[in-house]
Amino acid sequence: MSVSLSTAASLYDRVRRVIPPIEWPAFTGDIEAILELKRERNAVILAHNYQTPEIFHCVADIVGDSLALARKAMAVDADVIVLAGVHFMAETAKLLNLGKTVLIPDLGAGCSLADSITASDVRLMRQRYPGVPVVTYLNTSAAVKAESDICCTSGNALAIVESLGVARVIMLPDEYLAKNIAAQTKVEIIAWKGHCEVHERFSPADISELRQAHPGVTVLAHPECPPEVVAAADFAGSTTAMSDYVARHKPARVVLMTECSMSDNVAVEHPDVDFVRPCNLCPHMKRITLANIRAALEQNRHVVTIDPDVAERASRAVERMLAV
Ligand code: 13P
Ligand code: SF4
Repeated sequence: MSVSLSTAASLYDRVRRVIPPIEWPAFTGDIEAILELKRERNAVILAHNYQTPEIFHCVADIVGDSLALARKAMAVDADVIVLAGVHFMAETAKLLNLGKTVLIPDLGAGCSLADSITASDVRLMRQRYPGVPVVTYLNTSAAVKAESDICCTSGNALAIVESLGVARVIMLPDEYLAKNIAAQTKVEIIAWKGHCEVHERFSPADISELRQAHPGVTVLAHPECPPEVVAAADFAGSTTAMSDYVARHKPARVVLMTECSMSDNVAVEHPDVDFVRPCNLCPHMKRITLANIRAALEQNRHVVTIDPDVAERASRAVERMLAV
């Protein structure tokens, strides 16, 4: 069975504002194969908001920020999950679906935050600050989560920190997220020095230039940006919170201080909003393509595995987060 001409046309209709007609024929063969493979293998594709529009809008079943992907991963009723995103997201999906096959199309899809800290670093922090709970960003390895009390994402970090009812927490590994949350709470936050290589490159000067060049532009920033950038923005929130902001407020002109595909994906839903596009690419997210999603389903690769002892402890930290 193949995708009908009308299905292909309606898919293109969805993305025509962000994919030029000359590029579209290069995608249709893989899209057709992936839709068929999903049926054959009883598979679902979970895609992060930073995936390119031909993945996000044409083959994904579930899309969202890290928190939404984790929540929705728990309810997946399929044999196979393909995670179109980075490795920590695939590990999180596996932690919540230990009995299912979870595939990541490219094992090299990492994250500078996840690479900034190891399990032994967390143990050293615990020795240095005995009794202080460890709140760990989802952007970490399962081994780091296993040493943690509870996880958080940019979408729930403040609520997680405050849910613990303590005066002090260790928050790992994103220094800027920790500082941005510290600005909103009385809880003292001990941070680590990890940074996102995409968001650390934005500066307050970028925002001033944008406001000068585009008077009246609404500036939305991800909380992985430095605190001075968040302070200069009109709103800061997770990728889904930024998308919801655009849907709710319908600004005439907006700039998203985040990864490039985000604007494309949100623009598809809002033809009436003008998206200004200085952005930074995440090289890890961009390793995922239609071609390697197709290969993942055809060849059952790359299967995500987690040591059972690590998995048990890490899933406790993730599940504790999801229960808040
Ligand atoms: P979100 O949870 O906001 O989608 O962020 C994940 C991420 O990797 C941002 O760089
Ligand atoms: Fe990691 Fe930054 Fe890429 Fe998100 S954008 S996956 S935090 S490197």
